[in-house]
Amino acid sequence: MKYIVISLGGSIISTDKLNLELMEKFSDTVSDIKSYDKFGIVVGGGKLARSYISDLKRYNVNDNILDEIGINATRINALALTTFFDDANSKIPTTINDATEMVHNYRYVIMGGTEPGHTTDTVSTLLAERIGAKILINATSVDGVYSDDPKKNKNAEKFNELSYNDAIDLSIRNSKGAGTNNFMDITSLTIARRAGIKIYVVNGNNMEEYRNILLNGKCNGTIIS
Ligand code: UTP
Repeated sequence: MKYIVISLGGSIISTDKLNLELMEKFSDTVSDIKSYDKFGIVVGGGKLARSYISDLKRYNVNDNILDEIGINATRINALALTTFFDDANSKIPTTINDATEMVHNYRYVIMGGTEPGHTTDTVSTLLAERIGAKILINATSVDGVYSDDPKKNKNAEKFNELSYNDAIDLSIRNSKGAGTNNFMDITSLTIARRAGIKIYVVNGNNMEEYRNILLNGKCNGTIIS
């Protein structure tokens, strides 16, 4: 059995509204691929999560509750995505254990977050580690990993490849800048390093990226290994 995990970032799934067109294109693209037997798909919260969290933050709501709200947003997005697949779960697993059980029954197992304190980046590496997927596609709104935020700094350098250690150093540096949009959180990269999971960070709006990775292991984004 060949397993793969795809992390669909909230920034592409939920923008001003739920991005149903992207969901449909994504399901058509991966449904055509026969080079993998099982797909774990982890969906982010995007605008839906951010709008609830930022509104409630102004009322000094406890961070743990805000995380729970974010998790629920990721699960709503995940449930919406299941409707585009024939052979996928219709109930969203809430733990890695439950998702792992479901992998026996469905070709596509779709989930959101699990518990407070991390993001779906960590959920996707934990799922990959658990089911033995050696490849993780991190589909985002940026076309790879940059030395700085490319939307703010025109001189930011794009990396074609990064070692785990360099990616972790960069993620630590990014997490120190308030409000920076980090490409992946530190925990998720640490798990990928210990499990030897190769990460492809790509523009998830570009269907060619998924096809190229799934069919020949190449991409125009950044490979972390
Ligand atoms: P995301 O994984 O979408 O967060 O989860 P993100 O990376 O900040 O956002 P994008 O995808 O890049 O736009 C949304 C929020 O849900 C909570 C966190 O508060 C997170 O910021 N969450 C999510 C958890 O607490 N635990 C989880 O397992 C997942």
